[in-house]
Amino acid sequence: MHQEKIETIKSAIVLADAQNQDELEAYRLKFISKKSVVGELFAEIRNIPNEQKKEYGQLVNEVKQLADNKFQELIDKVNAASKKAKSMDLDLTLPATYIPVGGIHPLTATRQRIIEIFERIGFNLSEGPEIEDDWHNFTALNFPENHPAREMQDTFFIEKNPDIALRTHTSSVQVRVMESHKPPIRTLSPGRVYRNEAISARAHCIFHQVEGLYVDENVGFADLKNTLYHFAKEMFGRETKVRFRPSFFPFTEPSAEIDISCLLCGGKGCNVCKGSGWVEIGGSGMVDPNVLENCGIDSKKYTGFAFGMGIERIAMLKYQIKDLRLFTENDVRFLKQFRSLL
Ligand code: PHE
Repeated sequence: MHQEKIETIKSAIVLADAQNQDELEAYRLKFISKKSVVGELFAEIRNIPNEQKKEYGQLVNEVKQLADNKFQELIDKVNAASKKAKSMDLDLTLPATYIPVGGIHPLTATRQRIIEIFERIGFNLSEGPEIEDDWHNFTALNFPENHPAREMQDTFFIEKNPDIALRTHTSSVQVRVMESHKPPIRTLSPGRVYRNEAISARAHCIFHQVEGLYVDENVGFADLKNTLYHFAKEMFGRETKVRFRPSFFPFTEPSAEIDISCLLCGGKGCNVCKGSGWVEIGGSGMVDPNVLENCGIDSKKYTGFAFGMGIERIAMLKYQIKDLRLFTENDVRFLKQFRSLL
């Protein structure tokens, strides 16, 4: 009779469960407290005949042990669940903690972007020295000796040796590549250049250019135009228009200045483009046959185009920077604004 009752209580304990504090308390009242079914089993002892007391006592103690163990198990379970629920209380929409990081200089970012665009259409990269000789900076590029064209670019010469100068343009790299490589040549030369100019919002004695050169059989002006159209659209956006204005450079014939439609007003005219709707980004042209010959390339078989652009100029247009000096002053308030270019 007792046996049966005890077995029923045992299986009820085994099956018992609790999901929260209320259910835990219900379990405690049912199986642990003095007035619980287990408590009642203890109270029953006094009604048991003496010779059965020992055996009965053992059975009841087993039930109590079972009930206690289960109680502890349920407490642990409910605690673990509430801990987990608390950790879900995190507000994931809170702004992230600010981690100070550096940024890429706008000129570096612009140079990188230009390189990317041209690399994707098959241009490789080339570099040359910043301290150049007369041949690579002028003579090979068809600047006749004592010709006023040399005055176009105010050159820093080395006093003791007029043959050596700081390069005034990256076109000098064009000469070096043609001297050392056979066509087809498709190369891009970014680099620092120097000109003896008074520093102002629009001019600096140190700045950066990127020169492009393409020499092969049957290269024509249409190739030059298409390449620069592609560049302008990739760099400044689909809507950008390109205009070529006849110009003069000793090393190209014909020569053209490259303008793009003003990014600010889209061509309507504003103070950035001085009302014209166009802004200049560089020079270009078909490589003069004399230059090809000076570099050991057969000008009857090969033709080529070249272009040169100012990296500062492009960065100023792209990021609407009004003063060139900002690039070299390293004012963090300026540089900070380009942190997203990382
Ligand atoms: N080297 C020229 C300059 O610095 C730019 C240029 C490059 C023009 C290539 C034509 C072709 O002004």
